[in-house]
Amino acid sequence: MSEGISQPDQPQELEGEGKDLFSKFDDIIALREGLLSQGREDPFNLVMEKVLSPTRAICNGRETILLGTYNYMGMTFDPDVVEAGKQALADFGSGTTGSRVLNGTYQGHKECEQALKDFYDMDHAMVFSTGYQANLGIISTIAGKGDYIVLDIDSHASIWDGCAMGQAEVVPFKHNDIEAMEKRLKRIPADAGKLVVLEGVYSMLGDVAPLKEMVAIAKKYGAMVLVDEAHSMGFIGENGRGVVEDAGVIDDVDFIIGTFSKSVGTVGGFCVSNHPKFEIMRLVCRPYVFTASLPPSVVATAETSIRKLMHGSNKRAHLWENSKNLHKGLRELGFKLGTEEPQSAIIAVVMPDLEQGAAMWEALIRNGLYVNLARPPATPANMTLLRCSLCAEHSEEEVGQILEIFEKSGKEVGII
Ligand SMILES: Cc1ncc(COP(=O)(O)O)c(C=O)c1O
Repeated sequence: MSEGISQPDQPQELEGEGKDLFSKFDDIIALREGLLSQGREDPFNLVMEKVLSPTRAICNGRETILLGTYNYMGMTFDPDVVEAGKQALADFGSGTTGSRVLNGTYQGHKECEQALKDFYDMDHAMVFSTGYQANLGIISTIAGKGDYIVLDIDSHASIWDGCAMGQAEVVPFKHNDIEAMEKRLKRIPADAGKLVVLEGVYSMLGDVAPLKEMVAIAKKYGAMVLVDEAHSMGFIGENGRGVVEDAGVIDDVDFIIGTFSKSVGTVGGFCVSNHPKFEIMRLVCRPYVFTASLPPSVVATAETSIRKLMHGSNKRAHLWENSKNLHKGLRELGFKLGTEEPQSAIIAVVMPDLEQGAAMWEALIRNGLYVNLARPPATPANMTLLRCSLCAEHSEEEVGQILEIFEKSGKEVGII
């Protein structure tokens, strides 16, 4: 036995029981049990038993129209995309078993990054294993201790987590408020490192950021700008490059973050940039270095999908039609919506409270329609929302059926 370390002869009795580390979840456990005790279907535990197409699945034994998948461009069943995945699986195997900086960069990862550079017409593209990791990695690596991040209060969790990981000073401003943003920037020391983080489309209400004004102000104060275009890629802008393209500021932003889990129709995340030193990120960005790379089949499907999205103008036009028709129809039925006009492929229906929101969600699923139930803290201003995300593969007829199901369910629950 080494000297100086006393070893008890008998096991010591523990004093007290210690704090239950799960006690912090008691409120949410009670809330969930309260909702389920009324015999409701669990809105957060839906199982898709069979997926028939981008817009239909068998859920809880019923054929269901999907209106909450973020599969905006309906690429998940595109024959070329599926074939590319199968071929890569056969040629390269099921996974890379390695980090991008070790054995995890295959030809397919480079081709996928080239497709992103071509899609955005940018110099650099870096693929991550998820969009969450792209935000986590880029934000935490760029803005560290002593730097400042100015961001919209309604930013996605992955943005907040990236801020926390990097330990920069975080300065939030009121959602989409241009003046509030400028006020925050004005107060930051002129010589400090500054990053402004914005989203093109905010996923809860489906509203668009005033990027033209915001990017101009960020530049006036010498800040770098990162825009998360997760919900606009493929759909918004002439070439589907997002709100940055639509607002004419794509050349003024420093980083665009995106995901493959929405319009691209698979899984993965990315950052594109024209910054001349961008490639160093591959060595210093921990959520890129210390995780395995995407499987070859995934990058092959992503590359094929991205290249097809470059020629997706007809699909984009149809998706806009769907969005306008659903917004108009829901409003005419008397539902309260998150935006006055349709601004994206997300239409949020505002529920009076969680109780009625859960009842309405259940009525919709019983009647054959799946939407997302969203509740605080994920939602702004404590709202309960039924978030609808449209797909370019929804037919005009299907949008009609969706409205009929909303009408029937709304009347059953007494919301309209
Ligand atoms: C705005 C935004 N950024 C990032 C992400 C993360 O994307 P991923 O699903 O690829 O992790 C999401 C996903 O919901 C999102 O809505």
